[in-house]
Amino acid sequence: MGQMGGSALTVNWTVREILKWTRGYFKGAGISQPRLEAEILLAHVMNVDRLHLYLSPDTPLTPDERARFREIIKKRRSGVPRQYLTGEVQFYGLRFRIRDDVFIPRPETEELLERALGLVPRDRDLACLDLGTGSGVIAVSLAKYLPRVKVTAVDLSTEAVELAQENAELNEVVDRVDVMRSNWFERVVGKFDLVISNPPYIPEEEMENLPEEVRGHEPRRALAGGKEGMEEIAKLVAGLEEHMYAEATALFEIGDGQGKMVTEEMKSAGLIDIRVERDFAEQERYVIARCPL
Ligand SMILES: C[S@@+](CC[C@H](N)C(=O)[O-])C[C@H]1O[C@@H](n2cnc3c(N)ncnc32)[C@H](O)[C@@H]1O
Repeated sequence: MGQMGGSALTVNWTVREILKWTRGYFKGAGISQPRLEAEILLAHVMNVDRLHLYLSPDTPLTPDERARFREIIKKRRSGVPRQYLTGEVQFYGLRFRIRDDVFIPRPETEELLERALGLVPRDRDLACLDLGTGSGVIAVSLAKYLPRVKVTAVDLSTEAVELAQENAELNEVVDRVDVMRSNWFERVVGKFDLVISNPPYIPEEEMENLPEEVRGHEPRRALAGGKEGMEEIAKLVAGLEEHMYAEATALFEIGDGQGKMVTEEMKSAGLIDIRVERDFAEQERYVIARCPL
């Protein structure tokens, strides 16, 4: 750190130089993709696209940019996830705000959304329910990509509910996304054509082995699924019947190895056509089922 602040006489801190230095600084801390992370954070501080960094590598940083960059990379190196530092994530081609106390959306969930888009008809008015909406990525994307859909999005966390509401406004779907605080189905009224959820599913015994970046910074309630990771999933499955129309679809993200257990839960709840699918990394990740009557 000292070199970056002190030796202005010897180093001209251009975009190129600062990226090179930061890559090493991050690499030393074991951050994977150190160059990419450096670029994203520098682009954020300079308020430009990453592409701009490539087009203008010789641009010097202003003293203010340098000071802000220094602060942000110190936090990153100490383990704060990059998304909490930039306050922004991309999800399925859309922009979302993100902040502390709310789960950071993962690429696996983009695949969940893709499945949902493939499962529901585009030419009908549909009601969708997103349980545990977090930053609202699933609910907002459904509304954005399916213009005839109305989404109810719930979360127990006040921070998540506020952020999901902001993200619905940011993406201009606030008229079709109804965000509310609810303990799963507790305040949910009515039936839905699609019930979707990325619930907390990390088994209790795996919680302590999560990388510090996740365990130390993301909300525990968004991750911990209790014994075998099944406790919250079981509550969701139990509430499905009351809230699904005949022929409606349920689509959940699950943890690898949970396919059989979730299938059993769903079977005993009377759901049919249950299938477990794998993600891009070949892990069991999605379960899809239908309500018969
Ligand atoms: C894995 S995160 C998913 C967030 C978001 N849907 C996504 O995919 O990025 C699980 C979410 O479920 C919420 N949650 C946990 N327990 C809940 C409960 N009892 N009722 C409602 N939401 C709950 C958490 O606050 C968290 O936002």
